[in-house]
Amino acid sequence: MKASLLVIFCPAKKTQAQFLADQFSIPIVDGSHLAFAKPREIEGFVCSLTRANHSEPSFVFLLSKQGLSLAQVAVDNLLSIRANFCSATVNYRRQRGGGKGQMIAKAVGLSSSTAPNVFDATAGLGGDAFVLASLGCPVTMTERVPEVHALLTDGLCLAHEWGSENDQSLVAILKRMALVGSDAAKYMQTIEDAKKPEVVYLDPMFPQRTKGARVKKEMQVFHQLIGKDSDANLLLQIALECAQKRVVVKRPRIAPYLAGLEPNYKLEGKSNRYDVYLCH
Ligand SMILES: C[S@@+](CC[C@H](N)C(=O)[O-])C[C@H]1O[C@@H](n2cnc3c(N)ncnc32)[C@H](O)[C@@H]1O
Repeated sequence: MKASLLVIFCPAKKTQAQFLADQFSIPIVDGSHLAFAKPREIEGFVCSLTRANHSEPSFVFLLSKQGLSLAQVAVDNLLSIRANFCSATVNYRRQRGGGKGQMIAKAVGLSSSTAPNVFDATAGLGGDAFVLASLGCPVTMTERVPEVHALLTDGLCLAHEWGSENDQSLVAILKRMALVGSDAAKYMQTIEDAKKPEVVYLDPMFPQRTKGARVKKEMQVFHQLIGKDSDANLLLQIALECAQKRVVVKRPRIAPYLAGLEPNYKLEGKSNRYDVYLCH
């Protein structure tokens, strides 16, 4: 399922809207009369649009002053996702979070004296990459789903603009992050030996839990858009050949090992687990 429409709420972003419309071969709808409307009104407008078109698009790009988001259209409501590196929550975690004591930091081998360079093969909306870059790691990311890549590109650009005016430490973090729109398996096979990353980080999609647990809004949209990364086992094999020091795989705590391969050790949290494979 892919995006089939772009609604623009901010006339100043016309050039970006046209670029995206061309890239995804989708029409643009003008929503600028709703630039200052309440979220409920915007929801109503987008839902009515998709019905009026009889095309029943499941995903719609929304481009507003706040940036690019992707909305999954349900019967009368929207679930939307965006990459955001300057929200209050992100700022709080960056400034007051667990620092190098966080599980993800320990998993990639961050210490007081070393910040390894990391290849994040499964970037998604860049949350994990941002945490690692905040802790000093240079991070190269790949994302292969064009919609997700577009959201991440926009999130990084807006954060750069906001940081340049308000927070130079954010700009320094963003300078450590590079994004490539590519399949990670293909990309890793093109990296020359001297440039191989110390750490490869993998967080592939895992089948959605059906019972019990409430799934986060973001993950619901991701599951509808992407489904399961069924080639993740192969990705691990290629990652093990590419990493100089270690491969880290993020999994739900109770999930089986990727490719059935037992890690050298694992770090377990409440809902997630980091499997660490050391390379020799
Ligand atoms: C669970 S999400 C990653 C979330 C990410 N760690 C974060 O913090 O936002 C998995 C993402 O990896 C991407 N992905 C999976 N396999 C990939 C591959 N071989 N190459 C590039 N991207 C891939 C998927 O499209 C999806 O966006």
